[in-house]
Amino acid sequence: MKQYIDSAVEQFRTLLEEQIARQQRMEKESGATDFNSLDKIVIGICGGDGIGPIISKESERLLRFILKDEVANGRVELRNIEGLTIENRIEKNKAIPDDVLAEIKACNVILKGPTTTLKGGTLESANVAMRRELDLYANVRPVQVPDENIDWIFFRENTEGEYVLGSRGVEIPDTLAFDFKVTTNAGTERIARKAFEYARANGKTNVAIVTKANIMKKTDGKFSEIAHKVALEYPEIEVEEWYIDIMTANLVNEQIRSKFQVVLLPNLYGDIITDEAAQIQGGVGTAGSANMGDKYAMFEAIHGSAPRMIEQGIGDYANPTSIFKAVEMMLRHIGMSDKAEKLAKALSICTETEKKVIVTGDKDGATCAEFGDYVMKTLEKLV
Ligand code: IPM
Ligand code: MG
Repeated sequence: MKQYIDSAVEQFRTLLEEQIARQQRMEKESGATDFNSLDKIVIGICGGDGIGPIISKESERLLRFILKDEVANGRVELRNIEGLTIENRIEKNKAIPDDVLAEIKACNVILKGPTTTLKGGTLESANVAMRRELDLYANVRPVQVPDENIDWIFFRENTEGEYVLGSRGVEIPDTLAFDFKVTTNAGTERIARKAFEYARANGKTNVAIVTKANIMKKTDGKFSEIAHKVALEYPEIEVEEWYIDIMTANLVNEQIRSKFQVVLLPNLYGDIITDEAAQIQGGVGTAGSANMGDKYAMFEAIHGSAPRMIEQGIGDYANPTSIFKAVEMMLRHIGMSDKAEKLAKALSICTETEKKVIVTGDKDGATCAEFGDYVMKTLEKLV
């Protein structure tokens, strides 16, 4: 037992040193990419696993349609990046194989299909690795249900909390397992600022800070304290604080849920509650997700790779709405808000008002490609 304890203590020292170094790096970083100043915007497309290649191919078709002129005149390049597959990742024993990561880093923004995350083992999730490698600290997930006056946007911290050392816990066989959760000052400050800046720029009047600071006293306690400190710089915005358990209930409480606007929360709570929120909107197939850093940004569907759909031979019936919403967020991010608005409008016609082509995720519905055609035809009519 002593040798286990000694090695765990040694490991803890290494982890602490690494995390302190990360916090110090974050303190120094600044400056977001100015897309207008780039000669060319390179959009990398990673297919991913399961239904990933199917919905990604469809979004590439959509992007080529929307950005026809920009691709033709060289303002935008769409670049396919191979190799971010579970097979290749297992073979190289790397969450993101080195050559794939180098290709990703040569792009400005990434559109990513869902990638399979293995339970247990030591192979880290490709998502988590990409968020860390590109320092994509803000996971932004909008959810809207216009009929119910719901217009939420979640700002989930995306690089720390339970995730940053999630593959590097300690285990003493047949005895116990220990994981680590890390909250840093700089990491919290930057996500809090992102949420409040968004609120200010978009005329939002309320930010809800969500933690479990009554139990996770150190980490969530810090998140809460720093978020409130940042809030002081935004006196026009009303701030409230909720614990994650009751906030989860709030989202299904029809009496009060429409009052929430911007929700700021640590990584794992944000992961969980955004699936709940997406389900309220109509399912995890309907919500887009942006992972933003200062230099890079990655856009993806909120859902996973749905291997069951591939096993059952119904992959072609996968719903691309979620990744289409991610495309919309990407267009806005790269400074093409007019195109983003138009896509948003087309998606709202296709999924809320007109609904001529319906994807159910099974053979009784339309295929992913049929829905893609429908969105493009609708876009054409908006011209
Ligand atoms: C998400 C996903 C990921 C996460 C998985 C795939 C690692 O659930 O983006 O919400 O847990 O963050
Ligand atoms: Mg999730």
